[in-house]
Amino acid sequence: MKRFYITTPIYYVNDVPHLGHAYTTVAADVLARYQRRNGREVFFLTGTDEHGQKAEQAAKKVGEPVQEYVNRHAKVFQDLWPKLNITNDDFIRTTEPRHTAKVQLALQTLKGRGLIYAADYEGWYCVPDERFWTEKDLKDGNCPDCGRKVDQIREKNYFFKMGQYRDRLLEEIKSGKLEISPDSRKNEVLGFLGKELGDLCISRPKSRLPWGIELPFDREYVAYVWFDALMNYATAVGYGADEKKFAQIWPPDVQLVGKDILTTHCVYWTTMLMALELPLPKKIFAHGWWTVEGKKMSKSLGNVVAPGTAVEAVGSDQFRYFILREVPFGLDGDFSAAALVSRINVDLANNLGNLVSRVLSMVEKYRNSVVPNPLATTGGSIQQWINQHKNSLLMSTKAESLNYRNNIENLAFSKALETTIKLCDEANRFIVENAPWTLAKNEADKEKLDDVLYAAAEAVRVIGVMFAPFMPDAAKRLAQKLSLADIGTLEWGGLKPGTTVSAGEALFPRIDENKAKEIEAMLTPKTGEATAGHATPAAPVVPLAPEITIDEFMKIDLRTAKVLHAEPVPKSSKLLKLKVDLGFEQRQVVAGIAQHYKPEEIIGKNVVMVANLKPATLMGVESHGMLLAANDEGRLVLCGTWETVQGGIKVK
Ligand code: ME8
Ligand code: MG
Repeated sequence: MKRFYITTPIYYVNDVPHLGHAYTTVAADVLARYQRRNGREVFFLTGTDEHGQKAEQAAKKVGEPVQEYVNRHAKVFQDLWPKLNITNDDFIRTTEPRHTAKVQLALQTLKGRGLIYAADYEGWYCVPDERFWTEKDLKDGNCPDCGRKVDQIREKNYFFKMGQYRDRLLEEIKSGKLEISPDSRKNEVLGFLGKELGDLCISRPKSRLPWGIELPFDREYVAYVWFDALMNYATAVGYGADEKKFAQIWPPDVQLVGKDILTTHCVYWTTMLMALELPLPKKIFAHGWWTVEGKKMSKSLGNVVAPGTAVEAVGSDQFRYFILREVPFGLDGDFSAAALVSRINVDLANNLGNLVSRVLSMVEKYRNSVVPNPLATTGGSIQQWINQHKNSLLMSTKAESLNYRNNIENLAFSKALETTIKLCDEANRFIVENAPWTLAKNEADKEKLDDVLYAAAEAVRVIGVMFAPFMPDAAKRLAQKLSLADIGTLEWGGLKPGTTVSAGEALFPRIDENKAKEIEAMLTPKTGEATAGHATPAAPVVPLAPEITIDEFMKIDLRTAKVLHAEPVPKSSKLLKLKVDLGFEQRQVVAGIAQHYKPEEIIGKNVVMVANLKPATLMGVESHGMLLAANDEGRLVLCGTWETVQGGIKVK
């Protein structure tokens, strides 16, 4: 059978992975795990988008060769996903030869079919931003992005005949053969296609942007980064390379994207596939946008939620649960540490966790930890018990399992979890109504108690199956409590009478107020603006120096440097003599840090220094520069860069 093929966008490597990236990837993982549990073979793909201007500029900024830069940053994503229990089957990087070669094949194919042509591209060009604008984009005749002046440029480029596919695309969407979800997004695409569809410029001249995949028919050009990136979904599964694999996997069953990249996927990508004569994806789902405490996530606001930190703060299962439970998939949502903590305490610790402890403790207490046999009431098989015995919990478990299935298959993750929690409520109600503690007092109620305990324990197992794709670690822990190798399927009856169970530790620890504060500090560090109005800040220990202009600041030439060697200056208790590497030269620097660092502690460290300070002689030793250090009430702490960079890079 064809594999169930799920994709996420491939993320730009110039950014650090954040809540948004984790969101799409966790959602895809839940779907992949659900399908696998259902017996489907799955292919789940994610990866990184490494070409184009963004990567090139980011690398330039830190003074690193682009390939090294993208290698380093792709690894950050690759290292993150296991922490979130992501079970992707492959990770594609667009700088890999398996990708670049086949993007060229696609370009050559389209060229061969007469679907790519050269034409003059005319527009207003912003040199510092390296991008084109149309006349009506301009703001007061200047770049709408940076406000700088633009030049009119006329330049040859290559175009893909996208426009001619408009009618077919409309038909595919309207007929539902290509499903775009939610409906609001489908309507947005239909609206876009209501206007005329132009052709797509798919090249960039190398003279302007060398970091990309060369056009196979014109070495002076590279492919437009979106043409390159979108092809990943095909190149990763053997397009043009492994026919057998490709046939087993293609087309994608679900492509998850954020609403920001709806058009590129629903229009550019689908028409590219038409031109390549490949089947279209079955479904493209565009989910909503996360803000953090009401604000757009941004580096400058310092409110970017790092998924790795979230896992450290609350655990992978809990974070996965929260992001998919809190917001209906498709709508926008707002992240706050308080909401996260509240969800964990209310849903996971109190409701779900308590139910598990309660039920398993009762089996321990009333049946010596052994799951009782409910057959006595019917005297037949467990199937008969299921069919004949109108156990109310059995009935509601069946109903909720069905709801759950429908929800998750429609990517209504939040509703699927709501259903799961609803079943917990029903199980709790069932226990209260049947009062096992009363039944236990009367020998005549033995069979009734067996029934109640079996139903409650089996409902707990089914609840575990329901949350397993979302919280795989907790599902494993629950399976262990039930002495099962795996939590099993939604079918009622998976827990066999005679099985030994143990309540053990709570499935999810409750978060107390102190811990909640810690979590908040870890996840949403407050910027200056946000803390104003909280505690009155203390006056600075050292008064602020008078204001300076940027020009005055720029007179100080700060550079990165690596400490190559360090030794004490004879007869001085304070000074160390260092040799530092500035990349273009090595320097001798004397630093007053001997009481704070031993020489061996700083050899190999990356520091920042004033590189244009007039040389001075200290205790008879020449010093050609000064290292930066924070003076924490007399304790000196050296300043360096957060990530390793080469020596000699300008710091400003
Ligand atoms: O667009 N809320 O990469 P990208 C929810 N390389 N989801 C968010 C989000 C937020 N605040 N921020 C990001 C690119 N995302 C291209 C894609 S695909 C062939 C090329 C998620 O790093 C969401 O899935 O900017 C969004 O579509 C994606 O990250 C964009 O990631
Ligand atoms: Mg983006």
